[in-house]
Amino acid sequence: MECAWPLQALREELAPLMPGVRVELAPEIDSTNSELMRRARAGSTQPVLLVAERQTAGRGRRGRAWQADPGDSLTFSLGLPLAPREWSGLSLAVGVAVAEMLHPAVGLKWPNDLWVGGHKLGGILVETAGTGEALRQAVVGVGINIAPRDGAGLSTPPAALRALWPQAQAGEVLLRVAAPLARALREFEQAGFGAFVERYRARDLLWDTPVTLSDGRLGTACGVSGSGGLLVHTAAGTLCVTSEEVSVRPA
Ligand code: BTN
Repeated sequence: MECAWPLQALREELAPLMPGVRVELAPEIDSTNSELMRRARAGSTQPVLLVAERQTAGRGRRGRAWQADPGDSLTFSLGLPLAPREWSGLSLAVGVAVAEMLHPAVGLKWPNDLWVGGHKLGGILVETAGTGEALRQAVVGVGINIAPRDGAGLSTPPAALRALWPQAQAGEVLLRVAAPLARALREFEQAGFGAFVERYRARDLLWDTPVTLSDGRLGTACGVSGSGGLLVHTAAGTLCVTSEEVSVRPA
């Protein structure tokens, strides 16, 4: 039954941006990212949007699990071949595109967490597969809490989109986000993260905030670089740190 998921409308919106795109709904799957990465590693270059009603092994950044309650969340991945000149900053560009389509109050906590009012609304996991540096299959996974959920056991208390958008339904949110996300990926491919720096700045929740880096260094966040690194003023000067090196939290 396609009642809650506007699959045909998604196909129509995505087809001009991702020729040959497949739009698929999985009632249950381990992880939409894992599935599209399996296909990519098997050599598929098919553009695909895969949405799951339930993930049994959803994955987050840094090897963490991503838990989401069926019906109360949106979990999907977009897979497509991309050939940007430089890959750095891709996950931040995705964060910008998704945040902009959700609500003006949605901010970005570097590198690409979606936050509202000090709580985490959603997360993004970007992976790539392929042998060459140039053309690779990118898998962009997005998880958004639609309805309030239990925060027990989570390091960051969860926020819910319905606090900002009371009638939000997962299918409608996906329809709002998918095509702008595909457009942002094409823009990133052509112009790199530089094209997103000002837009990131407008939602940067760490801007001018004291922060602690996971390696113990302290400083004040002062924006992001043209390659998506976090700029931090410290006693030893201004650092540019990458998300592979450190995680960061408000001090
Ligand atoms: C994070 O904040 O750590 C990233 C969370 C990413 C979760 C999404 S849900 C859809 C896709 N499939 C996954 O297994 N993970 C991403």
